[in-house]
Amino acid sequence: MSAATKPLDGAAARDLPQGAAPARTGCEGGPPRHIGIIMDGNGRWASARGLPRALGHKAGAEAVRRTIEAAAQSGVSWLTLFAFSSENWQRPAEEVRDLTGLMRMYLRSEVGTLAREGIRLRVIGERERFGAETVQAIAAAEAATAHGTRLNLNVAVSYGGRAEILAAAKDIARRVAAGTLDAEKVDMAEFAGRLSTAGMPDPDLIIRTSGEQRLSNFLLWQAAYAEFVFQDVLWPDYDAAHLAEAIAEFCRRERRYGLRVA
Ligand code: IPE
Ligand code: IPE
Ligand code: MG
Repeated sequence: MSAATKPLDGAAARDLPQGAAPARTGCEGGPPRHIGIIMDGNGRWASARGLPRALGHKAGAEAVRRTIEAAAQSGVSWLTLFAFSSENWQRPAEEVRDLTGLMRMYLRSEVGTLAREGIRLRVIGERERFGAETVQAIAAAEAATAHGTRLNLNVAVSYGGRAEILAAAKDIARRVAAGTLDAEKVDMAEFAGRLSTAGMPDPDLIIRTSGEQRLSNFLLWQAAYAEFVFQDVLWPDYDAAHLAEAIAEFCRRERRYGLRVA
């Protein structure tokens, strides 16, 4: 049995003070339901080898493949991968071209495997910004994998949490102005229902690789009570053992949601 498929024993592994009542952890009922990953460090991985950044991104795509499989094996239901941020458009045109080309290639080459493996792909973010060809490839991949029930895979591209929240606020403001929505009735659920993650559970665990410790505009609303795990590994080196390690760390955490712990 590989590290990634080993049953998790978070509650037993926790080092509770004598007499303390075990508080709820995400692992008592199994591994985290939804994991978000900020896949960072492709450029540094390439630089360390004297390679062009494009090869770092290519190696990063291999890590994506490994991680999806590892997540499916560990019983995670939702995996959201941050692949390209709203701010990444400001990188040099050549790098943006390399990244978008790679994404298109990956979509086309992987769709068969995803469908076979029961993985349902959804893309969140401003996909229109990539142009008609990519928009079409995304729609085709989403349709071809729509029957998947083993793992829900979200890939965030041209995604920014602030833009997403702003779009939801504008949508609500328009409806209120048109008289189709009562401002007083706008609650958390109504608001969350206007985000690109409508209907999906919030992430329980957010992982960032490469040693950086920031959100960089990822799932700002949804991360309200997520646990964060920062791993000192560059994304192209990420594998099933790293994911298992992050899940094990999550299992040692005590989630409180603002409640008092006796
Ligand atoms: C992550 O790797 C991929 C994207 C952000 C698109 P980076 O390209 O940010 O790699 P570093 O952070 O420069 O090493
Ligand atoms: C965050 O990484 C975005 C993705 C992983 C897609 P960045 O490399 O763009 O973030 P910063 O610039 O270090 O904050
Ligand atoms: Mg980076």
